[in-house]
Amino acid sequence: MRILLLGNGGREHAFAWKLSQSPACQALFIAPGNAGTKQHGINLAISPNDFPAVKAAVLENQVDLVICGPEEPLVRGIQDYFAADPDLKEVLFMGPSQAGAQLEGSKAFAKAFMDDQDIPTAAYREFTVDQLEDGLNYLAEQPAPYVLKADGLAAGKGVLILDDVMEAQAELRAMLEGKFGEASATVVVEEFLSGIEFSVFVFTDGKDYKVLPVAKDYKRIGAGDTGLNTGGMGSVSHPPFVDKEMMQKVEARIIKPTIEGLQQQQLGYRGVVFIGLISVEDEPFVIEYNCRMGDPETQSVFPRLKTDLVELCRATAAGELGEVAIEIDERSVASVILVSGGYPGGYEKGKVITGLEKVEGSLVFQAGVREESGQLLTNGGRVLAVTSYGETFQEALGTSLANAAKIEFDGVYYREDIGFDL
Ligand code: AMP
Ligand code: GLY
Repeated sequence: MRILLLGNGGREHAFAWKLSQSPACQALFIAPGNAGTKQHGINLAISPNDFPAVKAAVLENQVDLVICGPEEPLVRGIQDYFAADPDLKEVLFMGPSQAGAQLEGSKAFAKAFMDDQDIPTAAYREFTVDQLEDGLNYLAEQPAPYVLKADGLAAGKGVLILDDVMEAQAELRAMLEGKFGEASATVVVEEFLSGIEFSVFVFTDGKDYKVLPVAKDYKRIGAGDTGLNTGGMGSVSHPPFVDKEMMQKVEARIIKPTIEGLQQQQLGYRGVVFIGLISVEDEPFVIEYNCRMGDPETQSVFPRLKTDLVELCRATAAGELGEVAIEIDERSVASVILVSGGYPGGYEKGKVITGLEKVEGSLVFQAGVREESGQLLTNGGRVLAVTSYGETFQEALGTSLANAAKIEFDGVYYREDIGFDL
């Protein structure tokens, strides 16, 4: 197959790495890709949000299968664009329709969907600016902490968790009055759930589904999960607390009713449902849905997937997922993310990265990296993922840390405690 992968993060480097191992991968293009994806295919300088440019690249390169990494093109309707264009009718597209992508693109939609399907999640109310007074009164009646979520996509910044009711009321007002533009025209106010989070990835063609290895990501910048939220500082697969019994509950109470709901509502879902879960006293609740793989979870999940990823994606896009068997490597995997100094606040780009050639026994996935005159330079907050296997996640982490220490760039920072809470 000739494949076009959309995206440019560490997740997409992990996709490109895994796709290129398949004997079915005849050609791989990545738009726009990064210095890492270039090791496995041809980068095309195209934005995934520029649908006509994506179409032109598909036709010019005789692409058979398009795989969408990030959520934004999906929420903007790229699958629908492909489905509606007669020139593209032979091209398989892996990723949900705009209607299906609302699972991630609208928190209010996702909450109503879970209500309809009786899927366990935090209790909630939603408010628009006309209902500001109701919202302020509602907050006054609720116990702290307060969880406020912008309905739409807000570049990962749309969720606020606040201890003080006055502050929560001020934030609700600011959000409804346009703090995140259209994305916070509706705000979901949610019950705070206390527990340990984990990530479940389900491939579905709308009828059948397959569950990938479970992972846990670490979002905070500081050791002990402290400080500001980031795009993700590391991940492990498999988190040991997610045992067979937990996964049986997740499958029966959450995965099955999710897939049934997608079918009932005819959402045309052929792609990934990423379910962000929290275990509250050993009972699973949904924190959020995403319509794509997670970053940095993918960097730990795909190394454990023995199944051919081209076949898995093709079958998902073609509606033939029932025929695919998922095989999983029983080893543990840990990924440590190397970030730029200052991230997630301000940071400088363009620092020279050295030492990659010294890495032994780990995979390195690149994210914010660009190449110039044969040198690798930092080009984002999250720069690299160092991923390793081990009999236990502690062993895997040890290998990742040993190799992370060999990689240098000005201001490099990473957490050494990924997985320590498990
Ligand atoms: P989201 O963008 O929905 O993933 O939210 C970002 C993070 O906020 C989640 O990963 C959780 O750590 C936290 N969070 C979201 N909703 C809740 C909730 N209802 N209770 C506790 N923490 C939450
Ligand atoms: N790791 C969380 C996400 O990709 O949204």
